[in-house]
Amino acid sequence: RYGGTIMENFNQSLIEINNLAKEEMSPEMKMKIIREITKPYARLLTYYECAIDEVVTKLNILNKEYSLNSEQNPIDSIKSRVKSTESIVDKAYKKNIPFTIEALEANIRDIAGVRVICNFPEDVYKIRDGLLNQDDIKLIEEKDYIKNPKSNGYRSLHLIIETPIYLSTGKRNMIVEVQIRTIAQNFWAALEHQLRYKKNIDEKKSISIALKLLAEESASIDTRMELLKNRIYKDNKQKAD
Ligand code: GTP
Ligand code: MG
Repeated sequence: RYGGTIMENFNQSLIEINNLAKEEMSPEMKMKIIREITKPYARLLTYYECAIDEVVTKLNILNKEYSLNSEQNPIDSIKSRVKSTESIVDKAYKKNIPFTIEALEANIRDIAGVRVICNFPEDVYKIRDGLLNQDDIKLIEEKDYIKNPKSNGYRSLHLIIETPIYLSTGKRNMIVEVQIRTIAQNFWAALEHQLRYKKNIDEKKSISIALKLLAEESASIDTRMELLKNRIYKDNKQKAD
C-alpha cells in the first residue's frame, strides 16, 4: 500500500497518524514514515550532491591543468546548489510531474546545478570541451545563449549532462545542469534576476530595452578584454621565444 507517489504515501501516513487518536506514535510508525517517505527523497538529493561533487572536481582539475599550460586560470569561480524542495515541488506542480523519485529524476533536469564563472569568452568553450571530452560524461542537451543570446540579452552556455556516481551498489547516472558564463555575463544575469522581481509595470518596456543594451555593452567589453589579453599573451610569448 506504500507503492504510490511520495505525496500519496505522505497522505496515507498522515491518515494513519491521525487515526492513532490520542495514543503516541509508535516507534514502528515513526520508522515507517522515515523509511518510506523521507528516506527515498533524502537519498535522491544526496545522490545529486554527489553528482555535483563529481562535476566540480572535474572542473577544478581542468582549471588546474589549463593554468599549468597557460599560466592563466580559465575559471574565476564555481557555484553549485541542489534545488530546494520548495522549487522542486513548484516545478513538479507547474509541469504536472507526479511526485515520485522516477518522475522527478526524469523530468526535472536542474535538481543539481553547477555554475562556472569564466574569465574570458574563450574560456567558456575551453571548459565546455574539456568537460564533454571526458568519456564518462554524456551530453544530453546544449543551449548556447552566447552564440544565440535570449531576446532579453541573457548570455550563457547551458549543458545538461549525465555523470556517473559510484555507490556501494554500483554505478548510477545522474543528470546535472551546468551553466558556463563569463564574469561579465554573470554580472548581468545576477542583476537582471534581481530586477525581474520588481515589477514596475509602466516602465517595463523601457527597462527591458535598457537591460538589453547593457547586455550588449558588457558583451562588447568581454570581446575587447579578450583581444587585450591575447595581445598581452602574444607579446609575452614572442619575448620568450
Ligand atoms: P527552466 O529550467 O524551467 O527555467 O527552463 P529551461 O530548461 O528551458 O531553461 P533554460 O535552459 O533556458 O534556463 C535555465 C536556467 O538558466 C534558469 O533557471 C536560470 O538560472 C538561467 N536563465 C535562463 N534565462 C535567464 C534569464 O533571462 N535571466 C537570468 N538571469 N537567468 C536566466
Ligand atoms: Mg532548466
